[in-house]
Amino acid sequence: MNCHSPEAAVGSPSEFFDPEYRLARPGSTLRLIMRKPVIAGNWKMYKLLSEAVNTALALKPLVANANHCEVIIAPVFTELKTVADRLEGSNIKIAAQDCAAESAHGAHTGEVAADMLKDVGCRYVVVGHSERRQLYGETDQSVNRKVNSALAAGLTPIVCVGEMLEQREAGVVESVVKTQLSGGLAGLTRADVERIIIAYEPVWAIGTGKTATPQQAQEMHGVIRRAAAESHGEEVANSLRILYGGSVKPDNIATLMDQPDVDGALVGGASLEAETFAKIVNYK
Ligand code: PGA
Repeated sequence: MNCHSPEAAVGSPSEFFDPEYRLARPGSTLRLIMRKPVIAGNWKMYKLLSEAVNTALALKPLVANANHCEVIIAPVFTELKTVADRLEGSNIKIAAQDCAAESAHGAHTGEVAADMLKDVGCRYVVVGHSERRQLYGETDQSVNRKVNSALAAGLTPIVCVGEMLEQREAGVVESVVKTQLSGGLAGLTRADVERIIIAYEPVWAIGTGKTATPQQAQEMHGVIRRAAAESHGEEVANSLRILYGGSVKPDNIATLMDQPDVDGALVGGASLEAETFAKIVNYK
C-alpha cells in the first residue's frame, strides 16, 4: 500500500481526500499519510480564449468523477477569469503559470501580483518553470520571492525544479535540484512548506517525448523528500506532494503514479486536448 492509496486512511474517502480536512486537524496522525494526488495541466502559451473555454468545458464532464486527485489547469493570464468562471462549481481548479515576485501593488509594468490571480479565481500558481528559468532569467532568488508572494496571497505555489541534460550527464543532478530547492524555499516555515507543491521536471524530458523512467523519477522524488525532511522535518516531508513533469502521457502515467514518492503530474503537451488530459487524470 503506498502513501496515496485510500485504504491507508481512517474515515470516509471524502474526508481522506479533502486537503482542507488535513489542515483542519493539525494534530492528526492522518497527516502523515494523506497526500492527495494532483494532476495539473500546464497550457503554456497556447489557446485563444474561445479555445481555452472549449477545452475546459469539454474536460469538465470527463473528469467529473475524478475524486482520487485534484485536477488543475493553467491557462494563460488573459483567460484565467473566464475559464475560472465557466468552471465554477466543478472539480477543476485553476492555476496561473507565473506571478510577480513583488506582492505590493505598484509601478511594475507587465507584472501580475499573486493576490490579483487569487482575485480572479486561481487557487494555484506555477513558479519557477524551467522555461521561465531558461528563457526569462528566473533564478532561485526570484522563485523564492514568488513563492512567498503566492503564499501571502493564499495561493498554493507549484514550485518547479529539475536538471538539464548536461547536468544529468555530469552526474550533478542531486546537487542541482537540492540547490534549486534550498534557494527556492529559503526562509519558509514548516507551515509554509506544508502548503506548497513541488514539481520535479527534468528539463531534458520537457516537450521532448523522452520521459524519465519511473525509477529515475522515484529516485529524484526520494531525494527531494529527504531534502525536505532535512530542512523542515519528517512530518512536513511526508505530507509534501511531489509531482513529476516531462512528457507525461496517458500510456506512462500509471507506472509513474505507482512510484511511492510520485504524487501526481504536471502535464504540458498532453494537457492541451481534453480527451487526452482526461485519460491522464483518470489513470486509476
Ligand atoms: P510536457 O511539459 O508534458 O509537454 O513535457 C511539461 C511541462 O513543461 O510542465
